[in-house]
Amino acid sequence: MAQINQFTITEAVKESFQTEEGSRFKFLLETFIDHLHDYTREVNMTHDEWMGMLMFLYDCGKISTPERHEFILLSDVVGLSALVDMINTRGGATEGSNLGPFYLDDAPELELGGDLARGRDGTTLLVHGIVRDSLGNPLPGAIVDTWQADGSGTYPIQEHGQDKYDLRGKITADGEGRYYYTTVLPKPYTVPYDGPVGRLLRAGNRHAWRAAHLHFIIRAEKMRAITTELFFENTEYIDNDAVFGVRKSLIAKLEPVKKSEEFPFALEKRPDAKCRFDFVLAPEG
Ligand code: BEZ
Ligand code: FE
Repeated sequence: MAQINQFTITEAVKESFQTEEGSRFKFLLETFIDHLHDYTREVNMTHDEWMGMLMFLYDCGKISTPERHEFILLSDVVGLSALVDMINTRGGATEGSNLGPFYLDDAPELELGGDLARGRDGTTLLVHGIVRDSLGNPLPGAIVDTWQADGSGTYPIQEHGQDKYDLRGKITADGEGRYYYTTVLPKPYTVPYDGPVGRLLRAGNRHAWRAAHLHFIIRAEKMRAITTELFFENTEYIDNDAVFGVRKSLIAKLEPVKKSEEFPFALEKRPDAKCRFDFVLAPEG
């Protein structure tokens, strides 16, 4: 230990932890220390830079509340959340994408063909498709849990006086794995940028806009649930979403609905536009 220097310190710190041999925790911790020390040596970090980094994390903690998690936002804007989503997408399954901060696990049920928008202003959009397994078999009874921003880019949960359960619902797929409902076409919105993460975005000359999207968690018995998002072709910020959520495979085509068009299912509200997306789930395990 007396011989410790800027190169031997990394092994010394790792050895100081009495972690279980071969455990995942040991692997995670030691790899983290390796990379953190390598980074610090590589950039030749000054005291001011080190303190600046710590104060940034302190500010993230200070502004965080149960409703506002600045560390998740930080993870989002540096692409960490997207990277974890990518690593954990199973081959053959629909790609994963951001959960975001506005999910509620107790959303109300929405009947098949129901209108999620409940009379809100904007373009009425039909969202429909089939939930399948990776062999193409439909998954009857799959749960399509969805939430989204409104036609002006706001989540009702963010607004004082609005019902936090608005624009969210759980739909049960029919016997053929089909799901269908109408909603309002969401608009792009900004991630919160009035805190330290906003400062980081401004320092890097970055905007805070997310491309318009619908959020989904899809579940079915014995299948691995997926958390993902659906985006729309040729819409704003599709190529530079602030949290790197867009994947080519998650971009749906938005098509106008013709006056005479009929649908093979009953809808509570006649749509102005439609998009189709089939979800694919991989088996559990
Ligand atoms: C969202 O998609 O709802 C979201 C994602 C990251 C940060 C803020 C909002
Ligand atoms: Fe969102």
